[in-house]
Amino acid sequence: MCALQPTRVVLFGSSGKVGTAVNTVFNEHYTVFSINRSDCDVRELSKVKQVIEDYHPDIVINTVAFNGIDACENDPQQALSVNTLFPRLLADLSVSHDFLLVHFSSDAVFNGKSNDYYLEDSFASPINVYGLTKFGADCFISAIARRYYIARISLQFGSSAGNVQFVEKMLEKMRQGCNRLQISNDIIASPSYSLDVADMVKKLIENESSFGLYHIANDGMASLCEFMQEMADMMRFDVIIEPVPHSHFVSRGLKNTRTPIRSDKVQPMRHWRDALAEYCANLPHKKD
Ligand SMILES: NC(=O)c1ccc[n+]([C@@H]2O[C@H](COP(=O)([O-])OP(=O)(O)OC[C@H]3O[C@@H](n4cnc5c(N)ncnc54)[C@H](OP(=O)(O)O)[C@@H]3O)[C@@H](O)[C@H]2O)c1
Repeated sequence: MCALQPTRVVLFGSSGKVGTAVNTVFNEHYTVFSINRSDCDVRELSKVKQVIEDYHPDIVINTVAFNGIDACENDPQQALSVNTLFPRLLADLSVSHDFLLVHFSSDAVFNGKSNDYYLEDSFASPINVYGLTKFGADCFISAIARRYYIARISLQFGSSAGNVQFVEKMLEKMRQGCNRLQISNDIIASPSYSLDVADMVKKLIENESSFGLYHIANDGMASLCEFMQEMADMMRFDVIIEPVPHSHFVSRGLKNTRTPIRSDKVQPMRHWRDALAEYCANLPHKKD
């Protein structure tokens, strides 16, 4: 009798924040092949196809994105290639090569005009190139793929190689001793711990949940300012956080201002404050 083969996972974007968390969580029980930009620039679609043919995965997880509202406004071609056309190819390949596709989407597909949480069946209406190209992938995947999970997520905190995103940039400034920070009080999201998100995605797969779109976030919502104040308090940083409207910062693209998400398909995860406390407990404090 032949032994059960380990599940083969190809992970695109493992150097990123969500990719780092997915790698950590999935590595325990799966054979994960991490594909980074140096292995394959996902704009080169023939190379993407080659990766799938070389590794013949059971599951492909896509955490690659061209992020940043202004970056996408400035380079819409790259945003389209990375955020929409690459996932569309993965959707096609998931059918021809029979793998389960897991793709990460964003709360930026919503226009932010609702006063409540956005649920899985809430109407998406992107207001910038980033949101539009992320929504493009959601549409292609749900139209083409047969076995797929789209995990729509919101503001992430968690470890990764670079400190290029909002939370880690602010954290780094506080660590360097910056004692005054201006942060928007009118951008509201569902802060979520990337490890909790990755863990929930693993549960979706292992529970054989119905294929489709899921909102995956820690419970609750917060403005960027409220979130960073909480983090500063937990880290005992001596910093004054001054609330300002987002219009205080120059931006080329329209900002999504109020996009908290919640699921009516999966149990809520722990509150973001509890997840943040765990993250902060493991972070180094001030720079010596
Ligand atoms: N972080 C958040 O707050 C947040 C919120 C909502 C939704 N999301 C979604 O969550 C997913 C993961 O985001 P993240 O925060 O982990 O992003 P991230 O930290 O910026 O990582 C993005 C990854 O994509 C890779 N990448 C970008 N362009 C590429 C290209 N042309 N070829 C190959 N690799 C490329 C990057 O590689 P390099 O390291 O080489 O650049 C990196 O590994 C994305 O779908 C994003 O839209 C994130």
